[in-house]
Amino acid sequence: MANVSIPEYRITVDQLRPGVFVRLERANWFSHPFLFSSFKIKTTDQIAIIRELGITELICVPEKSDVLPFKPTETPEQPEAPKTPPTEILDALWELKKERAKRLQEKKQRIAECENRYISSVRDFTNIMNGIIRSNAQSVLEAEAFVARLTDHFLQDAESTLHLMNVMERTEPIYSHPLNVAVLSMMVGREIRLDAQDMKLLGMGALFHDLGKSRIEKKLLLKRGQLSKPEQEVIERHPAFGVEILSKIKEFPDGATDIVLQHHERMDGSGYPTEMSGESIHPMARIVAIADTYDNLCNNKEPEESLTPYLALSYMFGQQKKLFDTELLASFIRCLGVYPPGTVVQLTNGTIGMVMSVNPHNQLRPSVVLYDSEVPKKEALIVELAEENDLRVEKSIRLSHLPPEIFEYLSPRSRISYFVDLDS
Ligand SMILES: [Fe+2]
Ligand SMILES: [Fe+2]
Repeated sequence: MANVSIPEYRITVDQLRPGVFVRLERANWFSHPFLFSSFKIKTTDQIAIIRELGITELICVPEKSDVLPFKPTETPEQPEAPKTPPTEILDALWELKKERAKRLQEKKQRIAECENRYISSVRDFTNIMNGIIRSNAQSVLEAEAFVARLTDHFLQDAESTLHLMNVMERTEPIYSHPLNVAVLSMMVGREIRLDAQDMKLLGMGALFHDLGKSRIEKKLLLKRGQLSKPEQEVIERHPAFGVEILSKIKEFPDGATDIVLQHHERMDGSGYPTEMSGESIHPMARIVAIADTYDNLCNNKEPEESLTPYLALSYMFGQQKKLFDTELLASFIRCLGVYPPGTVVQLTNGTIGMVMSVNPHNQLRPSVVLYDSEVPKKEALIVELAEENDLRVEKSIRLSHLPPEIFEYLSPRSRISYFVDLDS
C-alpha cells in the first residue's frame, strides 16, 4: 500500500511498526549504524535498535510505507520485546558499517587514482596530438604505446568498469573528446571481441578521428547556433584534412586512416564526405561514429542543449537508429548499461544519486554516488547496488527536474567524461 496523498509527518518511536518507511532527522551517516538515513522498518528488532540509539522522534514517509504508523492513541503500552538483545544487534550493525566505511574509503581512493590517471592521460594526449599535427613520427609511437595500454586493459580485464570522471576539465574539448571517443569505441571493440591488432587500429582511428579540425578556425568550431551552408562545408572537410595530415607520417597505421576519413559516414548514406552507406563503411568507422555521436550529444558545445547519458542513448536508439549499424549500436548500449555513468537516478528508497560507474556484466546494479544534505559533498556516499539486495534503481531523472541544491551537489563537472581503471 503506497499512501501517495498523505504528506510526511513526525511520529514518536512508540508509533513505529514494521512496514512504516521512516527518515531519521538531522542524521549524519556516521551518527547511526544503518546504511541509509531513510528506510522501511522491517522488523521489531529495528525498532528496538532505534530506541537503543536514544532516538525518540522520526519522520514517517507515507508514500513509501506499506502500513501507516500506530496513531498516538493506539500505541501498544508494552513494546514488543526484541528476539535478540538490541545492544548485540547494534554492535553487529556498527561492525558492518565500519567495514562498509572502509570499503567506501578504498573505492574513493581507487576512483581518485583513476581520475589522476585520466588527467595525466589528457595531458599526455595533448602533447601527442600536437606532435602529430607537426608530423612528428615519434608522436605516433607514443600514441601507439598509449593505445596499447588501453588495449591491454580492455583485453585483460573482462570485468573492467567504466567510470565517470568527476573532474572539472580545464582542457579543451579538442583533447578530451577524442579520448572519450577512444575509450567508448574500444569498449565496444572488446564487447565484439576484436583481437589486439584490431583494437589498436580502432584506438588509433578513434584518438585521431577529428585531427583535421586542427586546420579549421577555432571560431568556426565553437560557433553556436545554426551554421551557414559554406560554414558547414568547411566543417565537413575535417575528415579529409585529418587524412592529409596523417598521410605525411608514414608510421601511422593505414587502416586507422580509413576510420578517420569515414567517421561521419552514416548507414543510410546521409553522412559525409562521400555518402557511403551500409557495409561499405569500414566497420571500425561505424563504431567510432556511434561513440562520437554519443559524446557530442552528452557534451554539446551549447551546454544547455547537452543530453543526459540516458537520454542520449534513448535518442540515438529511438530517433537515429537508421544512421548506425544496428548490431554495433546494440553492443554500445549493452556496454554502457541501462543507466550509463552520469545518469541521475532515484533509488527505491527515495534517495537521489548519480551513476558513477557501470560494470557491463551487472548493468542494472551500478555504483551510485548519493545526495544527502547531511553529508558534505566531498564525503558523499557511494553505494554499490550490486551488493545491496533491497535497493534498486527506480527511475532516471532529468537534470532539469532536480532541485538546484541536488543539481549542484551531484554535478560539479563541466563535461561527461569516461575513463577506465588502468593499473599504474
Ligand atoms: Fe568528426
Ligand atoms: Fe568527433
